Amino acid sequence: MVELGNNERRMLRAMLGDPQAIWSLDQLLEACEWVDQAHVAGAGLALNEEGMVEIEEVTSRMITLGEEGRKALNDGLLESRLFAWILNQPDDQRMVSTMSQSFEKSESGPGVGLLKRLGIALERGSFVLPNDTSEIETILEDRKEFIQSIGENGADEDKLDSDMVVAFRSRKRIIETNETTTRTWRLSADGRNVNPGSLTEKTQIVDLTPEMLQSDDWREAEFKRYDVDLPAPTPAGGRPHPMQSLIQRIRSIFLEMGFTEIEGDFVRTAGWNMDSLFIPQTHPARAMQDTFYLEDPGKLPIEDRWLDLWADVHEKGGGTGSTGWGGNFDREEAKKGLLRTHTTVNTVKHLADRPNEACRVFGIGRVFRQEAIDKSHLPEFHQIEGIIHEPDASLPMLVTTLKTFYAKMGYPDVRVRPAYFPYTEPSLEIEVKWRGIWLELGGAGIFRPEVTEPLGTEWPVCAWGMGLERLAMLVLGMDDIRELYQPDLLKLRSMPII
Ligand code: PHE
Repeated sequence: MVELGNNERRMLRAMLGDPQAIWSLDQLLEACEWVDQAHVAGAGLALNEEGMVEIEEVTSRMITLGEEGRKALNDGLLESRLFAWILNQPDDQRMVSTMSQSFEKSESGPGVGLLKRLGIALERGSFVLPNDTSEIETILEDRKEFIQSIGENGADEDKLDSDMVVAFRSRKRIIETNETTTRTWRLSADGRNVNPGSLTEKTQIVDLTPEMLQSDDWREAEFKRYDVDLPAPTPAGGRPHPMQSLIQRIRSIFLEMGFTEIEGDFVRTAGWNMDSLFIPQTHPARAMQDTFYLEDPGKLPIEDRWLDLWADVHEKGGGTGSTGWGGNFDREEAKKGLLRTHTTVNTVKHLADRPNEACRVFGIGRVFRQEAIDKSHLPEFHQIEGIIHEPDASLPMLVTTLKTFYAKMGYPDVRVRPAYFPYTEPSLEIEVKWRGIWLELGGAGIFRPEVTEPLGTEWPVCAWGMGLERLAMLVLGMDDIRELYQPDLLKLRSMPII
């Protein structure tokens, strides 16, 4: 025999108390001491699937009173009230016009038709009753009884006069028809053969407490299966914005990987944002249409020693053996104020301030680019940046670090492909597999000597920069980047917990 749940055991045991009976819902609720009919329905279905219980469904039509019907139940049908009114009037006052004064227009209008059909004639505006009104009275009495037989609770259509049902159905809002399905349950031969002694309910453990473990009680108990598919209410309390949760999660991952967090200002010079990274001054990304330059202050000071070093490396390659970009390095261009276009400015500045210290640092910060807003672009977004600066820093170390990070984020499939950045060699693109497709999430590489030599470091530097919003779209399963920042509480509440 299959393992039955507690509800099935209880229902089967109750039914075995009267093995031949046909059980109604109410009888089963009482016998099982349940209040929720879902228990009967659920356990009954499970027992039915095991072949122990047969379920019979009977669909019946219930007639209930509509709005006008309930009025008729309390005050009488319209035709009865009109008829009573006519009887109460002196012979010469039984006129449609006087009736209109005593009844609502919505009643006097249809009322005339109803009276005519009862055999009350209308002559020159006055109602004329037949000599013998007993027939009318009988009809009205039958109708009244019909309405009363439906009553407040309704009645089974089968038990009502079918001509009356048809007649009243053609009138508005007097009766309503509802279909209901009633089920009955009875034991099958297999069900009748079950030994009631085998049907004791077992304590089911939902939460294992320390007390239970100490007492040994759990040895006798049954563990309730945890049903992850069961719908559960989502608590609508406060929660951090999903982006904040994601940032927090990324931060924890890098911290647990031994990295230290760094920060930096939004406002930077073109010198630190670009020239220190050996980005040529003619690079298209430096143009006004791509970068937000400041009007005030249009320029910011930079120490001459940096300008000298960058000029040397940009024009002639400095001491790196490279030929540089040639041309004339424009020191004024380097002083231009801008909103940082990538967080690589933070890591390069970090190195410049402590070129002889080994470090593993990361930062998560906002960057700014002149982008038209669409489903995959925002003019303000975030990057996750980091470097490893130490004597043995290497390309495999860089790739492993990135793979480890994404694996911890829940994306174990990561690959790197060759790419180009002016400041790294080799340069990589990082791709993550998501729902079967490879998505590009960031860039990485080893800083070129043209970057590290002016900074004064001799060790290799592994560097990377990844898009946070892109990652957020994967984690939160959305295809429009703008949704992340729309203040739609309903949507934000329903986003996955990160
Ligand atoms: N700064 C690059 C970007 O904005 C990413 C990057 C960082 C690439 C560090 C290489 C090294 O896309």
